Parts: sequence; C-alpha cells; structure tokens
Amino acid sequence: MDKFVVEGDRRLQGTVKISGAKNASLALMPACILAPGLYRLTNTPNNRDVWTFSRLLGEMGIHAELNNDELFIDSTNITSFEAPYELVKQMRASIYVLGPLVARFGKARVSLPGGCNFGPRPIDLHLKGLERLGAEIEVEGGYIIASSKKLRGTHFHFDVSSVGASVNVLMAATLAHGHTTLTNVALEPEVTALAHMLTKMGAKIDGIGTTTLEIDGVDDLKYVDEETIPDRIEAATFLIAAAATKGDATLTNVNAHHLTAVVQALEDSGCTVYITGQTIRVSMDSNPEPVDITTAPYPGYPTDAQAQWAAYMLNCTGAASIRDAIYPTRFGYVAELHRLGADIEMSDGSCLVKGGAKLTGASVMSSDLRASASLIIAAMMASGSSEILRVYHLDRGYEALEVRMNALGASIRREQYQEF
Ligand code: EPU
Repeated sequence: MDKFVVEGDRRLQGTVKISGAKNASLALMPACILAPGLYRLTNTPNNRDVWTFSRLLGEMGIHAELNNDELFIDSTNITSFEAPYELVKQMRASIYVLGPLVARFGKARVSLPGGCNFGPRPIDLHLKGLERLGAEIEVEGGYIIASSKKLRGTHFHFDVSSVGASVNVLMAATLAHGHTTLTNVALEPEVTALAHMLTKMGAKIDGIGTTTLEIDGVDDLKYVDEETIPDRIEAATFLIAAAATKGDATLTNVNAHHLTAVVQALEDSGCTVYITGQTIRVSMDSNPEPVDITTAPYPGYPTDAQAQWAAYMLNCTGAASIRDAIYPTRFGYVAELHRLGADIEMSDGSCLVKGGAKLTGASVMSSDLRASASLIIAAMMASGSSEILRVYHLDRGYEALEVRMNALGASIRREQYQEF
C-alpha cells in the first residue's frame, strides 16, 4: 500500500493546472453506452475512479483507453449488461450504467453498491425514477435486475436533490418513448455537463442548467467528442491548501462560476482572490478569520470540500462551525486531525474547529477521498513530519496530487508500506 510522508511548515506558491472533473467524467463515460461508436472525451483526469470505470466498461466489451487526457471509448460492440460487485463496491458511480443499459438494451444487472465510508448513501431515487419510466426492477442476490421492452416518458420529481439519480434517470429518459418532465433535478455542473453531451448526441432536452428538465425521447443517439469540465473540487482543494499555508497560488483551467461559494468563503476568511478568465489566484498572509460553513447542493458550499475547510480553520482566530447537511456523518477525518493536535468538538452533523491549537506531525489514516485531502493540508500546516496512510483513497480522485503540490513548494513523498 502507499502512504505519504508530508513535511510541515510549508508555504504553497506558484501555478498549477487543474484537471478535468472526476465526477463529470464518471457521468460522461456511461453516456457512451447510449449509442454505438468511438467517443473521444478530452480533459479527462487520470485517476483511479476513471480507471475503475474503464475496467467496468471493459467487462461489458466496451474498450476504453486513456491517452494523456484523451479518453477513447469504443462502444460499437456491447457484449454484457452486467456491473459486477467486485467493481461496484470499489466505486458507487458504477450504478450509472443502469439507466443507459436498460434504456438502450432493455436489460441490466448491476450490483447493489453496499456501504460507504461516510454514512448511508441510498439509491432509491435512481430506482424509482427508472421505474417511473417503465423499467421493471427486482433485487436478487445483491444485484439490481432491470428490464423493459421500451421505456416511456413520464413525470418524475426527485424528493431529494441527487447528482447520481439525476444522471441516471436523465440518460434513460433520452431514449424513452415520448415526453419526460424531471423536477428538482440536481444543479451540479457535472449534471449540466452530461446534459450538454447528451444534446450533442442528439437528445432533445430543454431547461438545461435549471431544476426542471423537459426531455423528448428519440429513437437513437449518435457518438460524439466531448470536453470534460474542470474539476471544481480539485480546484477548491488547491485554493484552500494555498490559503491554509499562507501561500499565493494561481490555478489555471478552472471555471470560477462553479466555485462561487468556495471563493466567497475564502474571501470572508481574509484571502485575496483574483479571477481572470479561466484562472484563479488566491493569496493569504495571515491566520484566517473564522468562517462557518454549511454544505448544500450546488450552488451551495460543496460537501466534497468541507473536510479541507476544517483543516484550514485549524489556524483561525476563533472557532468555526462546519456542518454537513448532505452527509451528516462525513467527519471521519476529525479523529485523525486530533492526532495532529487539533482542537475540534464533534456534535450531530457538524463540528466546531477551535483555531490556534499547536499542530505537530503524526501518523494519520485516510478514511475517504476528501478526508485524505484534509489530512494533507493539515500536515503541511503542522510542524515536523507526518505520514498519511491509505492514500489509495486520495488516488481515486486526484491526479498525482503529491507531484503537483510539490511543484508549488510542498514536500510530500510517496512510499510503500505494509499494513498488518
Ligand atoms: N440520496 C437519496 N436517495 C438517492 C440518492 C441520493 O436520498 O437515491 C441522498 C443522499 O443520501 C445525499 C443526497 O441525496 O444525502 C445527495 O446525494 P447524491 O445522490 O447527490 O450523491 P451521489 O450522486 O452519490 C455525488 C458525488 C459525490 C458528492 C455528492 C454530493 C459522483 C460520482 N459523486 O454523489 O462525490 O459528494 O454527489 O455532491 O458524482 C467525491 O467526489 O468525493 C464524492 C463523494
């Protein structure tokens, strides 16, 4: 297994290029099931979730190959309609193949995802939406078995704003017979990016970028080339890391519109933020003012950047409350930050970070992707050396993070170790 050895007391300075969005790639890749052909998805990030999804497509006879940031997907011949437990348990987004498979082939067998490291993550809305479109769904032997002769247009309201359910049901509706109205669709840029690709493929979708989508089903779609949007969470991680180390970093290949809530929180904490075109620069030279955050669906403050914010607030001049309204138990990183000397009080669905505690290097364990990013930021703020175990969580969603942090002045070494 890999771990990071992180030297503390670092200041990040310089320029870093942000990768394509992991969560957008994971929505664009299954869309390639909807029509046969050779797709070219540019600005694709090179991370473990993209490799896992490529393997999943491979299991279905769909060849996927990443060449620098170009992902080629050949879905000309699909030979299997199954997503096995082995892959789904590694990556919940595997369930995104369900909608396209049942819409185009009338059948799919997809493993139930099972548990998640930061609390319950139901998939009821994915299934309800597909059932409303006419799919028959059974659960047997840990697998979702979906079948349908031809999906038909419907009305479906998402009780909760869900990125994944919006992605799955939207893809299926594009090939349904007749008109579908989806309400309370998630506004996350990754959903909008998918809707744009589907439109390019020939889907008829009105209301893109709003919570109501009107879809006129078509008989078939065609393959396309598409560019993946920049990763707003990777960008947020670099911005917060630069602020936390009292640094000055410039990020290129970003979409600042996708980062409004994060930029506002940074400015409220005392950072100077400059936005020009596709570039954001953040500069900070003091301890931050405490800024409370509460996560919310887009355009609110993202849950995927709350753990990083907690690390940043460890140096604040007071106390900051971090509440996660989307995943109230996503605080596995708090006990690890305590090991670095942090003073954080936990309560239901939130924590209170008390700034100013002396941070010293220690051995800590990653529990999920964003928790890992939080630990790296805190380790760079601490004095002395830290080791961060189980960085495979981090590798799921960040491309060579240590290399790019080091280019900004961090000192992070990847080493192998054995866990007993
Ligand atoms: N929900 C339901 N029923 C469902 C689906 C979701 O009640 O059928 C609830 C969830 O329990 C949660 C809320 O809806 O409270 C939002 O969950 P959502 O479905 O939007 O999450 P997701 O699609 O499973 C995506 C990202 C996550 C990110 C969340 C929230 C992908 C592949 N994953 O997950 O990203 O945290 O949206 O923004 O897009 C990450 O990148 O680290 C990550 C976990």
